[in-house]
Amino acid sequence: MSAMRTSLAEVPRPTRPARRLVVEDLSAGYADTPVVRQVGLAVGEGEVVAIVGPNGAGKSTVLKAIMGELSVSSGRVVLDGKDITRIRPDRLTLLGIGYVPQVRDIFETLTVTENLTLGGYRLSHGEIPGRMEEVLEFFPQLAGMRDRIAGRLSGGERKMLALARTLMLRPRLLILDEPSANLAPELAHRVLHDQVGRLAESGVAILLVEQRVREALSVADWGYVLVAGSNRLEGPADDLMARPDLAEIFLGGEPDQDRPTVAAGDSR
Ligand SMILES: Nc1ncnc2c1ncn2[C@@H]1O[C@H](COP(=O)(O)OP(=O)(O)OP(=O)(O)O)[C@@H](O)[C@H]1O
Ligand SMILES: [Mg+2]
Repeated sequence: MSAMRTSLAEVPRPTRPARRLVVEDLSAGYADTPVVRQVGLAVGEGEVVAIVGPNGAGKSTVLKAIMGELSVSSGRVVLDGKDITRIRPDRLTLLGIGYVPQVRDIFETLTVTENLTLGGYRLSHGEIPGRMEEVLEFFPQLAGMRDRIAGRLSGGERKMLALARTLMLRPRLLILDEPSANLAPELAHRVLHDQVGRLAESGVAILLVEQRVREALSVADWGYVLVAGSNRLEGPADDLMARPDLAEIFLGGEPDQDRPTVAAGDSR
């Protein structure tokens, strides 16, 4: 990520960890409306990978297609070498994928403890309390609110609960759709840098979609820019963030090919 690089030929190919998730040429959409076309991406063990792009670019659609919630018209989703395309979301949970959708995913009439218990539905009765304590260590703010009805939590606390609930089953791959949305800047920073960063350090592979582009790229190892349903650019997150043409690319401009960031499709 040196500023000294001058041409693509001099750019050493960045090494990425062993791939946990690979998405190949994925096309998907809603009913008769195709939204994403031939999208490709990869997430390695312990890697934080960010998908960024303008509103409506298809970021959430990619995640939903990975999660088997949408019809996939072509392409493949591969987890640890196994083809998981079109596998139902509940089966994907059993395979070690934790997904926190953009729209909140908690039971509002139940308490924090009850939400976490349901999140751990695959654990034995005896395992749940211990795992709950481990998860709550990541979310000290929630730890003091165990008996609170989830519907009475603040927006940020609900976000944390949705993430905490997903962690109960110790996912090996976490897919997060805008984990920092609606959080105050300081809390957004904490969720991304402390919680997401620490989870990745523990070996979890993390794929996240974020509106806060700079914040996301600063925690990510690798980034993909999605525009109008297609890959526009990818590369080491630091390199993407350093590009002066990043804002222009978001608006649909072509990346400058002479710049030293790996072009889309080069590193899957
Ligand atoms: N349920 C749906 N039925 C039909 N079209 C949809 C549906 N959900 C999303 N779309 C359309 O698909 C396109 C991509 O939407 P998507 O939610 O994937 O975008 P996004 O990149 O996640 O945007 P944002 O940053 O606003 O969350 C948009 O044009 C959107 O209107
Ligand atoms: Mg979205």
